Amino acid sequence: MVSRVIPVDPFDLVIFGGTGDLARRKILPGLFRRFCAGQMPPEACVVGAARADMDTDGYRAFVGEAIAEFGGDIANDTENLGAFLQRMSYVSIDARGEKGWSELAGLMREGMVRAFYFSVAPGLFGDLAERLNQHGLTDADSRIVVEKPFGRDLATAKELNRDLAAYFDEGQIYRIDHYLGKETVQNLMAVRFGNMLFEPLWNSQYVDHIQITVAETVGVGGRGEYYDKSGAMRDMVQNHLMQLLCLIAMEPPSKFDPDAVRDEKLKVIRALDAVEPHHIVRGQYEAGEEGPSFREEVNDPRSRTESYIAMKIGVSNWRWAGTPFYLRTGKRLKARCSEIHVVFKELNHSIFGEQEDHRNVLSIRLQPNEGMTLGVTIKEPGPGGMRLVDVPLDMSFADALGADGADQTDAYERLIMDVIRGNQTLFMRGDEVEAAWAWTDPIINGWHTRGDVPKTYDSGSEGPVDAVQLLARDTRVWRKVSS
Ligand SMILES: NC(=O)c1ccc[n+]([C@@H]2O[C@H](COP(=O)([O-])OP(=O)(O)OC[C@H]3O[C@@H](n4cnc5c(N)ncnc54)[C@H](OP(=O)(O)O)[C@@H]3O)[C@@H](O)[C@H]2O)c1
Repeated sequence: MVSRVIPVDPFDLVIFGGTGDLARRKILPGLFRRFCAGQMPPEACVVGAARADMDTDGYRAFVGEAIAEFGGDIANDTENLGAFLQRMSYVSIDARGEKGWSELAGLMREGMVRAFYFSVAPGLFGDLAERLNQHGLTDADSRIVVEKPFGRDLATAKELNRDLAAYFDEGQIYRIDHYLGKETVQNLMAVRFGNMLFEPLWNSQYVDHIQITVAETVGVGGRGEYYDKSGAMRDMVQNHLMQLLCLIAMEPPSKFDPDAVRDEKLKVIRALDAVEPHHIVRGQYEAGEEGPSFREEVNDPRSRTESYIAMKIGVSNWRWAGTPFYLRTGKRLKARCSEIHVVFKELNHSIFGEQEDHRNVLSIRLQPNEGMTLGVTIKEPGPGGMRLVDVPLDMSFADALGADGADQTDAYERLIMDVIRGNQTLFMRGDEVEAAWAWTDPIINGWHTRGDVPKTYDSGSEGPVDAVQLLARDTRVWRKVSS
């Protein structure tokens, strides 16, 4: 099987925050990978923009170092690297001042797709939008890419949407949730809507419950200050886990078209039940071999921010009423893994008179070892009569697809190419983000009103014991957190 790489149209991409952590680790190495793959056309130009005083040669050296550090295998491709760096330039600019804007205007070329990546703190999004407009840098076809977090509640998300809408149409705004750029996340849609097998069973008549787990082994590390104001609910659930839930729960869109897909996701978010306080478990990790405790890392011995959350969510629509979704995510857990488990109901009658619980489980692994497993029940081998045993039909995408399966394009590079193509399918629409905050806000406000204190859990464990109870009360169990 051969991957098809279709070059995008020539573009001018300006990265505001071009010297920041995200640019260094993800955006610049990702662009270089697309350049090496022949997808970024040789005429395309990238402009790094930040306040630091630096000239273009200095920026090229900076980009070269970023690629050496974060580019992986391609870092050694010196021939391509030389050509790629020639496409880079730099402007020292202030989002809140006048410095650098006319110089930036001088670098923009006619007839190119024009995209502006706001890889800066969200507090600068409005300023950038205003100045881009003021300096005549955009037209009706220009695009802006905005990073997460998109607001910290409904009010701030609405304000951001208003600030951007003052200068850009919704069709020009690309709100990134990098989870949607992951190959395996898109595979969720392929599995659901490309196979006859699953769709007829994909409802509360056949599905007992669904588990979505995104577990990390790392703690908050150097992001303590940011994370203590955010917590797992804002940092992970409101966006990444919500997007996974939407892809699993949504109705089939009429076609694979940005608005058709996003309309269906929005309907799911609007159908989410308010979550009862006793259906949520919040946790904070303790110190362990892996490092200091959460409270030490955020430098606040009384922090009530959660580094772990588990919750039971109901989706009140015809397809899902009665089938709970259990979500959990946390830091410093036993293993790093992102998995979705669709647990089917027990047979309503066993002709074998079996007492044991046998049920089909479809597990989709987003990372690591991307793949799918379908748990099926067969006869236990041997002459001992008709006894049943559960076995996995196990598929790793890398094994099944060979070299192409192993060639996982990073989420950021895929999404940037989609911006240039003008395809918004994998980006969040303004109303989607607002609906997600409208569901999230009462949950967070409830914790503050009640003075909710997170439960502690051991570093390297599967999370607080209360999370086990959350499912045990429903006579269910979490799938193991393992890599
Ligand atoms: N890092 C990640 O892994 C990650 C992941 C997800 C989302 N994000 C989001 O991506 C955005 C960037 O994050 P980051 O980690 O790259 O931040 P960062 O390392 O702090 O970089 C911020 C960048 O913005 C520039 N900047 C700051 N003030 C400016 C101004 N007034 N005018 C022009 N440029 C200015 C900085 O350069 P100067 O100081 O020289 O101006 C720097 O290049 C944030 O919204 C963040 O939430 C980051």
